[in-house]
Amino acid sequence: MNSTTTIAGPIGVFDSGFGGLSILREIRKVLPQYDYLFLGDNARAPYGSRSFDIVYEFTLQAVRYLFGHGCQLVILACNTASAKALRTIQQHDLPVIDPMRRVLGVIRPTVEKVGDITHTGHVGVFGTPGTIQSQSYNIEIAKLHPSFKVYGQACPMWVPLVENQESDGPGADYFVQKYIHALLEQSAQIDAVILGCTHYPLLLDKIKQYMPASVSVMPQGEIVAASLVDYLRRHPEMEVRCRRGGQCRYLTTEDADKFSSLAGVFLGETVSAEKVTL
Ligand code: DGL
Repeated sequence: MNSTTTIAGPIGVFDSGFGGLSILREIRKVLPQYDYLFLGDNARAPYGSRSFDIVYEFTLQAVRYLFGHGCQLVILACNTASAKALRTIQQHDLPVIDPMRRVLGVIRPTVEKVGDITHTGHVGVFGTPGTIQSQSYNIEIAKLHPSFKVYGQACPMWVPLVENQESDGPGADYFVQKYIHALLEQSAQIDAVILGCTHYPLLLDKIKQYMPASVSVMPQGEIVAASLVDYLRRHPEMEVRCRRGGQCRYLTTEDADKFSSLAGVFLGETVSAEKVTL
């Protein structure tokens, strides 16, 4: 065994709760050959309304945990964590913890795709209050497409609807229409909308039902998955550090049975989770 083989570990996928499973599902479709370690901080979710400092602290704890369990590469499959913690972890923590390991987020890959979707350059973003207040999408889109106009709409009720399995209920109809209306009121020229929260794909059918047909809706799972394929192709030194085996373990900071039953809604398959403490 050479040294790179001995240090290979599962790809870590982190979310505040269940939402990241919508990203993991798409990643495993295109990269089934690797091992994965999913961690949901369900006991402290939602992160969406928490302060910058707290989201950073919790996310760093999760990243350290995943590193401690062998992950060389961690995906923050959570927009709120990507918005509020990723940059600080990449710039300040990784060089100290281990400069060879990597933490990647979901915002940059999504933004790289938006130029292919919009014709008007007026882009809407749905996200948690934390993601929208951070202006992370505005900042990243401005770097790649300075002429684009970005309109953020916080959707504080969407995550609770999903977490409480009300995605198909009448409450979801009400709040989906409410936030779509609030977004489109900001500009009649919006023709592309980013679903900037990993929970929102579970509301996709209703969002499409109430969104005008002229507006493209962009869920992130496939985009992030394609971006990871590209990343591993461009970074063979990291690819060899990602263990092959096709297995996935699910860790949660909340009750394992509770996690396992709701995870099935996101994954379309039953899983058996383990409870951990960060
Ligand atoms: N999954 C998180 C995100 O993508 C939202 C859930 C939360 O508020 O914790 O932003």
